[in-house]
Amino acid sequence: MPTIAEADTLASELPEGGLVGQAPPSPAGPVEPPDAEQLAEPPVIALPRALQVIRFNQRQIEFVFRARRELGEVFRTRGVVPDGPVITSHPDHVRSLFTAKPEDAPSLTGESPLRPIVGPNSVLTAIGSRHMRQRKLLLPSFHGEAIDRYAQMIADAAQREIDRWPVGAPFALAPRMQAITLDVIMGGIFGIEGRPQRATPEHQLRTAIRGLVAASTWPTAQLAELMNLGRDEPVGLTRVGLSLLDRRTYAVIAKRRQAADVQQRRDILSLLLHARTEDGETLTDREVRDELLTLVLAGHETTANSLAWAWERLLRTPAAHERLREAVRTGADAADHIEAVITEGMRSRPVIPIIGRRVAVPWRLGRYAVPAGTPVAMSILLLHHREDLYPQPFAFKPERWLGRKPGTYEWIPFGGGIRRCLGAALAMAEQRVVLEAIVRRLDLEAEDPRPERAVHRNVTMIPLRGARVIVRRRLA
Ligand code: HEM
Repeated sequence: MPTIAEADTLASELPEGGLVGQAPPSPAGPVEPPDAEQLAEPPVIALPRALQVIRFNQRQIEFVFRARRELGEVFRTRGVVPDGPVITSHPDHVRSLFTAKPEDAPSLTGESPLRPIVGPNSVLTAIGSRHMRQRKLLLPSFHGEAIDRYAQMIADAAQREIDRWPVGAPFALAPRMQAITLDVIMGGIFGIEGRPQRATPEHQLRTAIRGLVAASTWPTAQLAELMNLGRDEPVGLTRVGLSLLDRRTYAVIAKRRQAADVQQRRDILSLLLHARTEDGETLTDREVRDELLTLVLAGHETTANSLAWAWERLLRTPAAHERLREAVRTGADAADHIEAVITEGMRSRPVIPIIGRRVAVPWRLGRYAVPAGTPVAMSILLLHHREDLYPQPFAFKPERWLGRKPGTYEWIPFGGGIRRCLGAALAMAEQRVVLEAIVRRLDLEAEDPRPERAVHRNVTMIPLRGARVIVRRRLA
């Protein structure tokens, strides 16, 4: 079985047409207990639990592809989440979970490695009515008009960054993309244009976030991550790093609470400070901190790595790169080509490779059923590499998407249903603007033509070397 990276190099040219297909139907959803008993339980991966935890965390790609090959499209693992999650990758199963009543299939994010960091009560980790309240409060800041307002901010941040890149010297794109996406999300949260001024609490917070995210690539961070799995409060190194970040976050909150214009301001921090719970209470500093940290962490590294992956793929697919360059530089269908590259990038390299729900009632998944209380995970990675949906799934083919929109349950890099990524529109806007700005102004080349391996960091899947590139030419 080749790894994704190896399979990419093996992928040959596709026949014309037929680049997006359909999966055969597979019944899924709640079933009555007597009917569930008629169906078998999914096959279980026969490895010791500890080994499965390590393999899943370190080599999720090999782990899930192998399990699917050996056990089929629904299988059970023994892992960190109690009761061993069942993993599926059929679009009908995905649909059943995304459209379920919220109380029938609550999200598993409350049990994810992010919980000790962002707390149990942020929009990402809360479930039930609290989740819906937080989501409703934040949604307007990430929709339509609000995103239009960000467009200039994104373009300026991209410009500032691109201007500084050297010609002829290799560097990793991911941290450069991160500098842009961090400026954008902090701009939206704090309502500031450009980078925060030096010596302000916002600037100190920005520095702390960058430090913490950089530290999360150290080998010791893997250990810290394992130590924190399943906990409510952080321990060890994570605790030390977070306490530094928290001091700075609370300083920013305190400053804003005292600002004379806090009632008039429309940025996300001010919005959180005005917000009232059903009981008319305002949010505590801790609640505001959890929400801010969620938005910063969920919002900038994901988008940055998604862009890095798009480039990693593009630079190893010269025909696609050339078509995009031509479209952007001549203006012929530029927007469609940009959209197609982003869509294909997120299909072939979903930064979040897996998401989950815990079914509260017996659930059918094709020819199997699982009892109430079972965690059911949707492998975005496996779904996006189904042969029937995406012929030659390992080939990077942006043209799959020209004149075609991705299916709601077949293309799910942002998840779906009532837990669909709150920042999806912002992330798409950022990717469009930044990708176009780079294509328009620079000729890039991969430092090493071999594909970069995917590695797992916390809940994300990122390019091992950060998508290393060389600028060959800067256009006027
Ligand atoms: C390419 C970039 C991004 C990707 C791939 C991504 C992916 C995801 C995924 C897979 C989920 C879980 C959905 C589910 O369980 O069904 C999610 C949730 C979330 N994302 Fe994103 N995201 C991105 C960018 C952003 C941005 C820019 C923000 C904004 C600040 C953001 C904020 C959130 C929040 C708050 C949630 C929790 C939503 C809820 O549970 O109601 N994300 N994202």
